[in-house]
Amino acid sequence: MSRPTYLLDRIRPDSHTLAAYQKSGGYEALRNALKSKTPTEVIDVVKASGLRGRGGAGFPTGMKWSFMPDPAKDKRPRYLAINADESEPGTCKDRVLMERDPHGVIEGVLLACYAMRASTAYIYVRGEYRESYNRLFEALREARAAGLVGRKIAGSEFSCDIWMHKGAGAYICGEETGLMESLEGKRGHPRPKPPFPAMFGLWGQPTTVNNVETVFNVPFILERGADWFRSMGTKASTGNLLVGISGHVNKPGVYEVPFGVSCKELVDGYAGGIWKGRKLKAWFPGGSSTGVLPGSAIDVPMEHDAIKNAGSMLGTAALIAMDDHACVVRAMEVVARFYDHESCGQCSQCREGTQWLSQIFHRIEIGRGRMEDVQMLEDLAKSMAPGKTICALSDAAAIPTLAIVKHFKDEIEEHVRLARCPFVDPAHAKRAGAFAHAH
Ligand SMILES: Cc1cc2nc3c(=O)[nH]c(=O)nc-3n(C[C@H](O)[C@H](O)[C@H](O)COP(=O)(O)O)c2cc1C
Ligand code: SF4
Repeated sequence: MSRPTYLLDRIRPDSHTLAAYQKSGGYEALRNALKSKTPTEVIDVVKASGLRGRGGAGFPTGMKWSFMPDPAKDKRPRYLAINADESEPGTCKDRVLMERDPHGVIEGVLLACYAMRASTAYIYVRGEYRESYNRLFEALREARAAGLVGRKIAGSEFSCDIWMHKGAGAYICGEETGLMESLEGKRGHPRPKPPFPAMFGLWGQPTTVNNVETVFNVPFILERGADWFRSMGTKASTGNLLVGISGHVNKPGVYEVPFGVSCKELVDGYAGGIWKGRKLKAWFPGGSSTGVLPGSAIDVPMEHDAIKNAGSMLGTAALIAMDDHACVVRAMEVVARFYDHESCGQCSQCREGTQWLSQIFHRIEIGRGRMEDVQMLEDLAKSMAPGKTICALSDAAAIPTLAIVKHFKDEIEEHVRLARCPFVDPAHAKRAGAFAHAH
C-alpha cells in the first residue's frame, strides 16, 4: 500500500546543496513565517499539529517550546540546542537527514529559534558522524552567504546564528543535560532536574533541546498546515516518522512510515523479511534501551501507546530484529556491556548496577551462571529503574534486562543448566572460547 511521504522525498545526489534545496521550495516556509506569523503563532501551529519529539521520549514539541519563559518578563538570552548525538544502538535516522538534506535541518532550526525567540542555536553532532558534520557545516556556510543565517535573516528583523559542535564518542552526551554540560566545555555529566533546561539550560539561560528529526518536521508543518500533518499517523502520534530497521532482516535501512504502521509490515514488507528464511525470535522496537519483545508480538502498531501497551517503548523507532539462531543472552550481554561502558558514574545504582548486569550476563553466557542469577538480574534491574537516578541511562540498562527475564527466562536457565550457551556448537566453543558463535 502506498502512503504519503515527505521526510525523504527530496533526497537526490545533490540534495545537500542550497541550489537544489531552494529549487524544491526550500526556505519558503521560513520566509513566509517571518513575513506573516508571530513567534507565538508558529508555536500554536506546531502545537495544533500534535508533533511529538523524535529523540526518544515523544514529548509534545509545541508544548515544550511554550515552556520557555515569556520574553516580556525574562530578558535573558535563550538558546536552542539540537541533539544530533544519535548514539542509541540501532538508531541511524538523523544521520540520513543531516547528510542528505542538511538545509532542511537548518530551516527547522531557524523556525524553532524564531518561535522561541532564540538568537543562537548549537548543533551537537555525534563525533563519529564526520559526513553529517561536514555536510551541515557546508550547508551553514552556504546559508550564511545567502543571508539565511546570521543578521536580519531574509531581510526580516529576525537574527539568528547557528554553531556546530562535535561530540567525542560518549553516549551520555545525548542526554539533554549531559549535552549542555559538554557544550559548555565540561564533562558530559547529566544535571539533576529541576531546574529544567527551559529555566536553567546552557550557561544557566533558558534553553530547549530538540532532536534533529523533530525540527526537520517543522518547515513541512508550517508550509502544509497542522491538519495535513494530523492526517497522517494516529490521533496521539501524528505525522510520519523515520524507522531504522537493523539486525537479521534482508533489507536493513531507514524507512519513512506514518505512525501506526504494523511492525510486522515493517519487518516483512519494508525490510524484506527475516534473512536466510528464518523466523523472528525477538526484537527491540526502539533501540537497545527499549524492552525486548518476543517475535510473536510483532503485529503491533509502531506508535507510542500501542508499543507501551505491548510492554515496551517506541524510543527512537530503531527496530532491531533477532532471528531464531540468535542468543538473547549474548545479545543482552553486549547491550549491558555498552551501558556499563557509557554510565557516567554519578549515581550508585547506575554505576554499580550496569557493571553487575554486564558481569552477570557475561558469566551466564560463558557457562558460569547460577540459577539464582535470574532472580538477581531482576532484583538488580528493579533497583536501578524507573526514575531512581539523575538521568535515564540507568533505566536504559534495566528495562531490556527486565524484558529478557520476562520473555526469555527459559533460555537464560538453559544456559545455566547446560553450563554453556545452547547456540554455540560445544566442540567449537571449547576450541575457540565461548565468544565464538555459530551464526
Ligand atoms: C542516555 C540518553 C541518551 C540520549 N541520546 C539521545 C540522542 O542521541 N539524540 C536525541 O535526540 N535524544 C537523546 N536522548 C533524549 C534527550 O535527552 C532529549 O529527550 C531529546 O533530545 C529531546 O528532543 P525531542 O523533544 O525533540 O525528542 C537521550 C536520552 C538519554 C537518557
Ligand atoms: S543514571 Fe547513570 S549515566 Fe545518568 S547520571 Fe546517573 S550515573 Fe550518570
